[in-house]
Amino acid sequence: MSNTKRFYTLMLAVIFLFILYIAYVQIIYDPQSTGFLGFKTNLLHPLNTTIWLAMMRVHVVFAYISLISGAVNFASTICRKHRKLHKLNGYIYVAAVMIVGLTSGYMAPYATGGRSVSIAFNVLTMIWPAFTVIALIQIRKKQIHSHRKWMVRSYACCFTNLTVHLLTFFIRNASGWSYPASYRMSVYISIPLLLILAEIVIRTAWKKPEGMNRPESA
Ligand code: HEM
Repeated sequence: MSNTKRFYTLMLAVIFLFILYIAYVQIIYDPQSTGFLGFKTNLLHPLNTTIWLAMMRVHVVFAYISLISGAVNFASTICRKHRKLHKLNGYIYVAAVMIVGLTSGYMAPYATGGRSVSIAFNVLTMIWPAFTVIALIQIRKKQIHSHRKWMVRSYACCFTNLTVHLLTFFIRNASGWSYPASYRMSVYISIPLLLILAEIVIRTAWKKPEGMNRPESA
């Protein structure tokens, strides 16, 4: 098994477990997000819980779509042999990213951990769609290698929630900090960490497009 295939299989396993975990929390454990909302103190703007919950549910549904459609399009068979499916699925991914971005834009001002977290999420809400649009522009210019790189950068952002929650858990248990302080630190570590991981993936596991022998540039 090649490194790329091994990495892809591991990624699918992580996505599967993450989707199950979010579904468990959202449907069974805490459908009204009472626990998470309980950490929102000293908000700059009053929070309408009904609208926030509706936005968050739309956010999660389209986050799922972006995770799944992104994973499908990274499969080498889909890339090489099913170009039409890859293209259609790619547009689904772009639309999902935009909707997750829009809902994120609504939720960011009320972020747990305060203003600094709101700013970090707002930055991510701009760079994630930007990476995705750059990837789209690159493929329209037939720059396959560059398209792959920007898609890896874009897809890395799909793991924000997973990374933030994992880090919050570890920081909180290791330091004894409050949930909002641990969450704030996690958001500030997660965003650069995911961007660095994307660069590592581009240079290692995803370096060579399997079975693609077209000339590459960019
Ligand atoms: C694609 C995978 C993603 C999933 C599954 C996901 C899921 C969630 C969930 C379940 C929440 C509710 C709070 C919680 O329990 O964490 C949430 C909140 C939020 N998400 Fe996402 N999300 C994803 C990606 C993103 C991305 C890429 C951004 C930024 C562009 C983002 C921005 C936000 C914001 C701003 C909040 C509100 C945070 C707060 O209130 O403190 N999410 N997300």
